[in-house]
Parts: sequence; C-alpha cells; structure tokens
Amino acid sequence: MSKETYLLFVDDEQPILNALKRAFYNEPYLIATATNADEAMNILSQEKIKVVVSDQRMPEVSGVDFLRSVKEKYPRIVRILFTGYTDFSTVEDAINLSEAYRFITKPWNTQELKAIIHQAMEYFDLVAENQRLFEMMKARNEDLELLNKKLKDLYEVQKEFTSTVSHELRTPLASIKTAIDILMSGTPGTMSADQKNILEKAGRNVNRLKNLIDDILDLSKMESGKAAFNFERHDINKIIEEVADLQEPVARREGLFIKKELDAAIPPIFLDRNKIVQVLDNLLHNAIKFTKEGGIVVLSTNKKEQNHIVVCVRDTGIGIKEEDRERVFEKFQQLGDPATRGEGGTGLGLSICREIIVRHGGKIWAESEYGQGSSFYFILPIEERRREF
Ligand SMILES: Nc1ncnc2c1ncn2[C@@H]1O[C@H](COP(=O)(O)OP(=O)(O)O)[C@@H](O)[C@H]1O
Ligand SMILES: [Mg+2]
Repeated sequence: MSKETYLLFVDDEQPILNALKRAFYNEPYLIATATNADEAMNILSQEKIKVVVSDQRMPEVSGVDFLRSVKEKYPRIVRILFTGYTDFSTVEDAINLSEAYRFITKPWNTQELKAIIHQAMEYFDLVAENQRLFEMMKARNEDLELLNKKLKDLYEVQKEFTSTVSHELRTPLASIKTAIDILMSGTPGTMSADQKNILEKAGRNVNRLKNLIDDILDLSKMESGKAAFNFERHDINKIIEEVADLQEPVARREGLFIKKELDAAIPPIFLDRNKIVQVLDNLLHNAIKFTKEGGIVVLSTNKKEQNHIVVCVRDTGIGIKEEDRERVFEKFQQLGDPATRGEGGTGLGLSICREIIVRHGGKIWAESEYGQGSSFYFILPIEERRREF
C-alpha cells in the first residue's frame, strides 16, 4: 500500500523542515512541509492531513493565527504548535484561540516528538470514529423514530378498524340470535331432535362469537381511552359478596366451594363499580373453570398497607407454570391443550382485567404452585390515583 500524507509541518526555516523530513522518513505515512501559511493552506485543501504542526514565529502570520484559520476551516485536523522559547502567553493563546492539541518546545527531542505526533494521529482517528458512530446512531435513531411513527399510525388504524368492525358485527349477530331463539321456542313449528341439536350448537357458537366481539370491543375501547370510567367510593367487600353470590350456583354445579375471607377494616375505595365487577367476574369465572370438582375458590381482601388494598382470588386448580404467569395477561393467550382449556374462553379476559386495574392506578399479577392452584392478586389504591388518558 502506498503511504498517504497525513502530517504537515509548517516552518519558515527550510533546514528545520529538512530535519523533520529525515526524522519522519521511516514512519508509515508521508509528511508534507510548507514554509508559510498560504502554502500550508494549499496543501490542506488537497491532502488528507490529520495533524498539522506549525512553528509560532513566522514572518507573515504567527503560528497561533495560522492554526486558528485551520481550526475554522478544518476543525477536525489536530493542531500542534512549535514554540522556540517558553513563552507562556503564546502557549495560552495556542490553547484558547486555536484550541491546539499540544505545544512542543524547540529544540525538540525526536522520540518525544514522534510519540506526540503518534498520539495526535490516534486522537484524530478516534474522533473520526466517534463521529462515524455518532452519525450511524443518528441515522439508526431516525430510522427507528420513523418506524415507531409508522407503527403508531398502524396501531391507530387497527384500533379504529377493530372498533368499527366489532360494532358492525354486533347487529347482524343479534338478529341471528333472535332467529335461533324464536325457532327454539317452537312457535314457528315443532322441530325434530336432530334439528334442535343442530340449532343448539349454532346457538352456542353465536354466544361464543358474541362474547368474543364484546371482549374485543371492550378492550379496544379501553386501549384507545374511549371507555368511560365512572369513579365513585364503594365498599369492595360488598361488591365481592354480590359477585360471589351470583356465581355460587355455577360453582356448586361444578362441585366447587366458594369461600370468602374479607377484611372488615377496608375503607370505601374509589373505583368504577361495573368495571371492578367485570374483573372479579373474570377472575372468579377463570378460577371455577380451571379447578376440578371438589376444589375450593377463596376470595379475600386485606389492607395490610396504608395506601392500598389487596384483593385475591385463589383456587386449588390446575395452576400456571412460572414462565406463563406474565403471558396470560396478554391478548388471546390461552394455555395448555385446546381440548382441556374449558369452553367459551376468548383469551381476552385477563387482558381486560389488566386494563381496568391499570386505569384504576393499580396492579394485577398471578402467583401459582403449578398443579396445586393459582392466586390472582390485584391492588387498588385507596385514594384516587386513576390514570387519565
Ligand atoms: N385460575 C386459573 N388457573 C389456571 N389457569 C388460568 C387461570 N386463569 C387463567 N388461566 C390461564 O390464562 C388463560 C387466559 O385467561 P383469560 O384471559 O381469562 O382467557 P380465557 O379464560 O378466555 O381463556 C386461560 O386460557 C388459562 O390458560
Ligand atoms: Mg377468562
């Protein structure tokens, strides 16, 4: 590879330049020399100079002034000043005005000079590399920002789409359901057992579809901040009693026992009643669904902390593996074999629960001993701390 010219010496005394040329003869780069500022500027405009070393005492322009012009025109070139004597004010100027990297006093020690120039070259490369990395990061960042914006736009379109489509689906579905109900009632005429069977199946599927649409609509409304929350102070223990009473017959039919362990010291909590009922309904429904006959579901509340209460729905069911405990709160995440999942689920129940609890300024999570049972906890702040959108 041919050597490139990276180093420029500027000195009005040719013998000095000659001596420098000799001293740097073996270096892996070529050196250029100039006897005055104009000539030096000319070289800088043509060569890929990394380091320029200038004498201070020159007849037309001083070294400091020359280096200052270099700084203005080629800020990345590393500047070094040669001073013939220890003149502190010149050194100060060199540092302040031309932002010189170093100064070297004459007469120089060749080894030292080489070491300094070497450092200056490395410094130039380092700054250039930093700059390159910085530019790269900037470009990446711009790409990312653009992508982010695109994603956001897409998400907005998707949300709008979901909510419109769900709305549009509800109406025809309701009319199918009514038609099935009328047929089942026998008013239009009696049906054979086979016909009834088929119609019953259709009815179940319509219900599933309706649940799915309701859940999607619920979730998309909450995610887009369109769901209205109505916060008022309520007795959470009372709400739990009501939800439990309503599901008691279902639990009994499945051979399960519901137990309540409610902390009487809980003050009224700021919450949206219907939404919290929805959360409790979902959790209790899951607990019943994923617990085999003979199991127990415990609903408990407690106020161990000053500023929040903890509600827990615990069951003695199939449990959730450690690695799935976060995932169950994601949309459409249903665990295990589809055949044993229990019927009618959409995989949206817990996502809805999470949205509701987060909007209350609370937190929801699951704990479980796999195979022994699960506990779903949520905390609610006692004082109003809901999230606004
Ligand atoms: N109490 C529970 N015990 C075991 N697994 C549960 C329990 N609650 C939820 N899960 C798991 O989390 C998944 C997601 O629950 P959810 O969002 O309510 O959807 P769905 O009930 O419609 O399946 C369930 O399909 C089930 O695999
Ligand atoms: Mg569920």
